[in-house]
Amino acid sequence: MKVAGSVGVITGGGGGLGGGVARMLVEGGGKAVILDLESSGGAELAASLGPNALFIPTDVTDSTQIERAIEQAVEQAGRIDLCVNAAGISPAHRVVDRKGRVHPLEVFEKTIDVNLIGAFDVLRHAAKAMTRNEPGQDGERGLIVNVSSAAGLEGQPGQAAYTASKGALVALTLQLARDLAVWGIRVMTIAPGIMDTPMLAGIDEKRRSQLIDLHVFPKRLGTPEDFAALVRCFMEVTLLNGECVRLDAATRLGP
Ligand SMILES: NC(=O)c1ccc[n+]([C@@H]2O[C@H](COP(=O)([O-])OP(=O)(O)OC[C@H]3O[C@@H](n4cnc5c(N)ncnc54)[C@H](O)[C@@H]3O)[C@@H](O)[C@H]2O)c1
Repeated sequence: MKVAGSVGVITGGGGGLGGGVARMLVEGGGKAVILDLESSGGAELAASLGPNALFIPTDVTDSTQIERAIEQAVEQAGRIDLCVNAAGISPAHRVVDRKGRVHPLEVFEKTIDVNLIGAFDVLRHAAKAMTRNEPGQDGERGLIVNVSSAAGLEGQPGQAAYTASKGALVALTLQLARDLAVWGIRVMTIAPGIMDTPMLAGIDEKRRSQLIDLHVFPKRLGTPEDFAALVRCFMEVTLLNGECVRLDAATRLGP
């Protein structure tokens, strides 16, 4: 699959890692359909990218909104070749914190709802739209990229909900690839390490330089451009399928 001429639907595409994918697609001659919350930067980003970018306000916890958004994406962009599920939240709570308070169950449920069920809901509708594509190289009709996290492989204290949601996306990678192979749809997952996005906005300079120092090589945080370049690689290399790729400069966070 080439970037030029491809249509990508990107949840959480209003900024951060998803925003980087939207930019990469449009700059490479494709189209980007950004699905994100009304309150996100999706409208501004789409406006800045021009006529080949479209913003459809969508909450990925609302199944009706998702179904309509995918229909609208196909109507307005013509087809869907790529679906990147980058919408996500990362709340932090200990199971029992130092004051003896237990992890709020509604926070756990909300995290699963956005990060896991939201991703599955979007990808099932996007996959349906992809089945209508004419097969390209190797009989390919589409590519789905889910966004997990290093925390999906090795969770930190306070990340129970996040780790559960992101670990499930890793586990699903091969299953989904097998499930959708009959349609010529590939499924890949990215497990980013520490990326320089709004998700990291709350940390101070000292903590930031500590995080940079954790990187083995290169000594820097990941960027939306690194992330988009990996998505582009997935698009171009048809043999990549059913695999989760870490994007973390060999960083392994201790407990
Ligand atoms: N930044 C990192 O260090 C890092 C590391 C590992 C994994 N990730 C994952 O990468 C993905 C992108 O994160 P980011 O770093 O770009 O952060 P971000 O906060 O910039 O992006 C997340 C996006 O998801 C959107 N979103 C949240 N809830 C939503 C909902 N209910 N419906 C639709 N959209 C919703 C937000 O509006 C936002 O635009 C997330 O899934 C995150 O868990 C990030």
